[in-house]
Amino acid sequence: MTKVLVTGGLGFIGSHTAVELLARGHEVLLADNLSNSNAAVLDGIAAVAGRRPVWANVDLADPLACRALLAGHPDLGGIVHFAAHKAVGESVQKPLAYYRNNFGSLVNLLEFTAAHRDCPLIFSSSCTVYGQADQLPIREDAPIKPAESPYGNTKQVGEEILRDAARAHGVRAIALRYFNPIGAHPTAAIGELPLGVPQNLVPFITQSAAGLRGPLQVFGNDYPTRDGTCIRDYIHVVDIALAHVYALERLLAGRSSEPVEVFNLGTGTGSTVLEVIAAFERATGRKVQWSFAPRRPGDVVAAYADTAKAAQGLGWRAERTLDQCMADAWRWQTSLPRPAQP
Ligand code: UD1
Repeated sequence: MTKVLVTGGLGFIGSHTAVELLARGHEVLLADNLSNSNAAVLDGIAAVAGRRPVWANVDLADPLACRALLAGHPDLGGIVHFAAHKAVGESVQKPLAYYRNNFGSLVNLLEFTAAHRDCPLIFSSSCTVYGQADQLPIREDAPIKPAESPYGNTKQVGEEILRDAARAHGVRAIALRYFNPIGAHPTAAIGELPLGVPQNLVPFITQSAAGLRGPLQVFGNDYPTRDGTCIRDYIHVVDIALAHVYALERLLAGRSSEPVEVFNLGTGTGSTVLEVIAAFERATGRKVQWSFAPRRPGDVVAAYADTAKAAQGLGWRAERTLDQCMADAWRWQTSLPRPAQP
């Protein structure tokens, strides 16, 4: 059993990872400053896990606050670092806020791991680092393409910061490059809570089907794909969470083959936007109202993962289907209290 700090532990992927770490017997400490989450998520984690982790309301980009938190836990055995801003469009408007927050928290945590070499770190990266890859499925050794946004840049440079810290200070880390995490816990006790109008496809579909939003706009119908819409690798958040547990246990067991390893987290199967809509309708029996709209700037045509490295290195494969993702996302959506009418 290891004491694990989960930063951003009240967020979408963080909360699901906390649950899976607790299920494996680890002790979990959450850090989250509620910048894009809700204290009630702690109740959801406790309901699923049967144990209530300690939560610290801390801004990890604040060096003094971060140091004070870590000083209270010298026995920390690992860090799973989710806490970061993640909205692509917002990052274009507020690049400095993104750089301050995403780099500040990472550097502060790495200073601790540099001084405590038995405390490895898992970093949330993204398939966005590949841009439009030249070859599909995408392998981890595919070239990194120039970032389309400050958000994407924080993932690319974040990985470089890990490598520099590993070279100079002996830090050990794994960067996990997520494809498109969706769904919710099957108990509907935790899920995704987007602020405002969802920018991502599946939260928009569930909110639209629940009558909280207008029809879905499908961005682009003239991409060179089987139905003209973009292809992505949608993966259940519980599968993503489990991969973090295995990655951390790989580091703790000293099984990494290099100081900073990188793994794709995807299913290996790409789905078009229209296929996602069809899966939602099949899994829930609800109709999605939608129409075609112009392409969204910055969207790549197609991205899906080569999963061989994660299968080999982590002993992990995504097991949940797209239809399960949709059923769980819908169960979560319908479990939420409806906002008061204006
Ligand atoms: C987006 C980000 C990516 C980030 C990820 C985090 C962009 C360009 N990319 O990925 O950098 O890591 O979120 O979750 O913002 N779609 C619609 N209608 C909608 C919303 C989406 O048709 O209302 C389409 C998109 O064009 C895309 C697909 O659905 O083809 C998935 O979109 P989304 O859920 O936003 O994910 P990504 O763009 O892949």
